[in-house]
Amino acid sequence: MKILLLGSGGREYTIAWKMAQSDLLTKLYIAPGNGGTESFGENVAIKGDDFNAIKSFVLDKNIEMVVVGPEAPLVAGIVDFFKSDNELKNVPVIGPDKIGATLEGSKDFAKEFMARHEIPTAAYKTFTASTVEDGKSFLETLNPPYVLKADGLAGGKGVLVLNQLDEAKQELESMLLEDKFGKASSSVVIEEFLDGIELSVFVVTDGKDYLILPEAKDYKRIGEGDTGLNTGGMGAVSPVPFSKGDFLRKVEDRIVKPTINGFQKDGYDYIGFVFIGLMNVDGDPYVIEYNVRMGDPETEVVIPRIESDLVEMFKATATQNLANYTLNINPETALTVMMVSGGYPGSYPTGKEISGIENITDGIAIHAGTRKDNESVLTSGGRVLATTAFGSSIVEAQKKAYQMVDQVSFSGSYFRRDIGNDLL
Ligand code: AMP
Ligand code: GLY
Repeated sequence: MKILLLGSGGREYTIAWKMAQSDLLTKLYIAPGNGGTESFGENVAIKGDDFNAIKSFVLDKNIEMVVVGPEAPLVAGIVDFFKSDNELKNVPVIGPDKIGATLEGSKDFAKEFMARHEIPTAAYKTFTASTVEDGKSFLETLNPPYVLKADGLAGGKGVLVLNQLDEAKQELESMLLEDKFGKASSSVVIEEFLDGIELSVFVVTDGKDYLILPEAKDYKRIGEGDTGLNTGGMGAVSPVPFSKGDFLRKVEDRIVKPTINGFQKDGYDYIGFVFIGLMNVDGDPYVIEYNVRMGDPETEVVIPRIESDLVEMFKATATQNLANYTLNINPETALTVMMVSGGYPGSYPTGKEISGIENITDGIAIHAGTRKDNESVLTSGGRVLATTAFGSSIVEAQKKAYQMVDQVSFSGSYFRRDIGNDLL
């Protein structure tokens, strides 16, 4: 099978790494890919939002399936584009249609979906510029901390958690009246604060059936001990010790089943991944957010734990055959540490030479923000390289992942030394 994978980060490197192990794969193209993905296929210089260029490429190379890594092409409607084109309509795209992708593209839409299908989530109200005063009054009825969310996509930065009422009112004004997050904050969701431990749950659905993939914990803040600015994610661990038994059953019954049924009831054309961001509040799960793709860096631990064939899983997803697909999971712990460019998540330099990747043998050195320049590998983004290791315990996986980090170097590199510590 000839497959085109869209994206360029650590998530896409990991999906490419895994698909390359399948006998079903005959040729992989990655658009645009990164400095490591050519180990598994051919990088092509096409952007995920250039649907016409994607069309020409798919037809020219007889691509048989498109796997979408990031959310942007999905939110922009790549699935609808394929479905409505006579030449493309039989080429499956792994991902939801535009309306399904709105679950990630609009927080208000996602909250309404949860309310309609009785899925547990924080209480909320949505406000716009014309109702900013109502929003301030609503804040007065809540207890701190106050949670303010830009409705639209804001690159993971659109959520503010604030302790002071005055500050919350000010930020609400700045989001609604001063475009703090541009168009993304022309609507703002204010919601109840959930006090608990976060968890990322991943599901794949073929539109009819679903499979729950390994869960993971992400470390979003730049600083050790969960301090400082939010990032895309500084590391991840899978499995998460508390996600089992009774808790996992509640997740499946109260959240996963009504979510998948909700897609069907609402008429979404949803095949592909569902990423459910959850809060465990005293043993009860609540949805914080939906994403319509895999997480990054969660993918760097979730996908390596899958022992069964990933291309076969995508094929079963595209042909509504997931019920007959057997998912085998490695019970060991996978842990990944993200090495980032100094300055990230603020501004940072790029073009720094990375050395030592070739010394890594025990684990997976996952390229994220890298590019090739002749024989050199250079940094090209904030999150540069993830080191994924396996162990029979979190401690063992940690030890190996940090040994890998020690083998790699580039000027100004930074990483968190406490990935997994909170789970010990
Ligand atoms: P989101 O972009 O929706 O994932 O939110 C970013 C982060 O804000 C989450 O990962 C949580 O840590 C935090 N957060 C979001 N909503 C809530 C909430 N209702 N209560 C507590 N923390 C929240
Ligand atoms: N790691 C969080 C995300 O992918 O959104």
